[in-house]
Amino acid sequence: MFPPARPEVESLRAYSAPLEGRRGQLRLDFNENTVGPSPKVVEAIRAIPADHYAIYPEYDGLREAVAASLTGADGTLLPEQIGLFNGVDAAIHAVFQAYGAPGHRLLTTSPTFGYYTPCAQMQGMAIEAIPYRQPDFAFPFEEIEAALAAAPPRLLLLCNPNNPTGTRLAPERILALAAASPDTLVVVDELYEAFTGDSVLPLLLGGPELTPPISATPPGSAPAHHDPFAAYPNLLVLRSLSKTAGIAGLRIGFAIGPVALVDRISRVTGPYDINSFAVTAAFAALDDQPYVDAYVAEVLAARDWLVDRLRQAGVRHHVAGGNYLLIWPARDALKVEGDLRSAGILVRSMAGKPLIDGTLRVSLGTRDQMEQFWEAYRRIDLGTVA
Ligand SMILES: Cc1ncc(COP(=O)(O)O)c(C=O)c1O
Repeated sequence: MFPPARPEVESLRAYSAPLEGRRGQLRLDFNENTVGPSPKVVEAIRAIPADHYAIYPEYDGLREAVAASLTGADGTLLPEQIGLFNGVDAAIHAVFQAYGAPGHRLLTTSPTFGYYTPCAQMQGMAIEAIPYRQPDFAFPFEEIEAALAAAPPRLLLLCNPNNPTGTRLAPERILALAAASPDTLVVVDELYEAFTGDSVLPLLLGGPELTPPISATPPGSAPAHHDPFAAYPNLLVLRSLSKTAGIAGLRIGFAIGPVALVDRISRVTGPYDINSFAVTAAFAALDDQPYVDAYVAEVLAARDWLVDRLRQAGVRHHVAGGNYLLIWPARDALKVEGDLRSAGILVRSMAGKPLIDGTLRVSLGTRDQMEQFWEAYRRIDLGTVA
């Protein structure tokens, strides 16, 4: 008999994703960048000397580089307002470890990113997940507002745009929720903001006309444009290099927020959780924003092309924010997923997810990749030969 783990861990169903055997396939199943990183990133990694990874990693200057990439040269973000994590998954885990305890409540939406649930469960937290509105998956704003007002949860986790429904919530409304809920830690997972520009950060970092109203600033604190988070001491923003910069496998993500929050969630990580390769790649990726911008533009154009095809063929679909869309196949979704896999194309069945059971989530890539997908999809699900 082995020593049992904590009761919360004994009853936990680990987050599992079908992550093996994906190399060499057209990977439209995890919303990663589908073409890989900038050549400058590849070059930087190739140039790493062996003695660089013989020692523990060093993070000097990385927080500053992240801050500069978010704000420009005259930005107002402090390095202490940037937390470095082994992917945003690790940041999410750290948030729950630092803030979640048995009896606490997580308020979130449904369906949303799958990793929030096990993180809450491993802390013994209760989960209140408010469904997106039918038929268009609109954000349930009034319901969230009411749930916050009824009893402040420990954590509010908002994925914006939401994975997998793509639902977009105006950043102003997120700030309003945070301002109205000072006892709740409000975490905004902005992994996909690059594709539609849905981020609270420009509002917090922007010019005077964009800064929060002075009335929202607690008395005695500095004006909002000196500290972007002065009016929002309970707000944390998550960003990653996985989905746009093409370094998902290196694992690096950021939590951006008030110094005190970043400090607390950083306390529960190890001192060297991010490896030296990820650090080198992150510097190079942050230094090549044009590469990311060009990739995003390519994906958006390919999305328009695919959506036109879906529309013309009468395929039910839902597209909003993010680099993915949902399709309701004519045939059984799991069978279509399997047949696409046999054709070398990976997509993700949403079987078992509330509201979207029976759909496929298809990540968006380049025009060539979308043409490849569409040719196979027509053949497999619509019985049409190109
Ligand atoms: C909404 C959302 N948050 C976080 C993550 C994890 O990102 P990372 O690769 O930075 O750990 C993902 C990855 O799929 C995601 O979709």
